[in-house]
Amino acid sequence: MPGIAYPELPYDFAELEPAMSRDALWFHFSQHQRGCFDRAMALVQGTEFEHLALEDLLRATARAPKHRAVFCHAAGSWNHNFFWKSMRPGGGGEARGLIAECIRARFGSYADFAREVKDKAARLFGNGWLWVTWKAGAIRIVATANADTPIVRGHVALLALDLWEHAYYLDHQNRRTAYVTTFLEELVDWDFANRNLAGVIEAPPAPRSRRGRDARVARGTASGSRAP
Ligand SMILES: [Fe+2]
Repeated sequence: MPGIAYPELPYDFAELEPAMSRDALWFHFSQHQRGCFDRAMALVQGTEFEHLALEDLLRATARAPKHRAVFCHAAGSWNHNFFWKSMRPGGGGEARGLIAECIRARFGSYADFAREVKDKAARLFGNGWLWVTWKAGAIRIVATANADTPIVRGHVALLALDLWEHAYYLDHQNRRTAYVTTFLEELVDWDFANRNLAGVIEAPPAPRSRRGRDARVARGTASGSRAP
């Protein structure tokens, strides 16, 4: 993928410990994502897609079956970039700021939101991703299979969680829910989510019972997302 550089992690490999081990992060970033990125680069070299930005490449290939391999590897790269930024050392805990208000408006409470995150993650069969997104004026929890990404269907990505087994097997073996719980309690970067959210709304929506009366969503149906 000439012109698209391999990303840098926003923290050192050991900085997420003990929530995520150095080995787990090193293998994930340096081996799994690297393989996905290098394959994408090889697939687009010498093609019409060679000089596109990564996000433009996703949009150009998402609905073209003949470009499925390009899309999958490019989306895998984009998803990982976004996932790294969805975590930070010393992260986790209950949501705060604008996204906390949006979560309460949509789910009633943070506890209900966290329960649905864990439930959707547990019910995703095989490999995939769990997302917190913004679409049509509300927060969404979206599960996608394999390398699929919701940003090609009008969602604004706020947070991503890699649910491929390679993401958690070294630290949690087959216990996916333990990994998701650790992400929520010790890793998630709510400030990152709030920065993404601030790009699409100016004020939180009203709670469900009041929605439609005084919700002041300004650009809640905007599509796309900030590049990771
Ligand atoms: Fe991964």
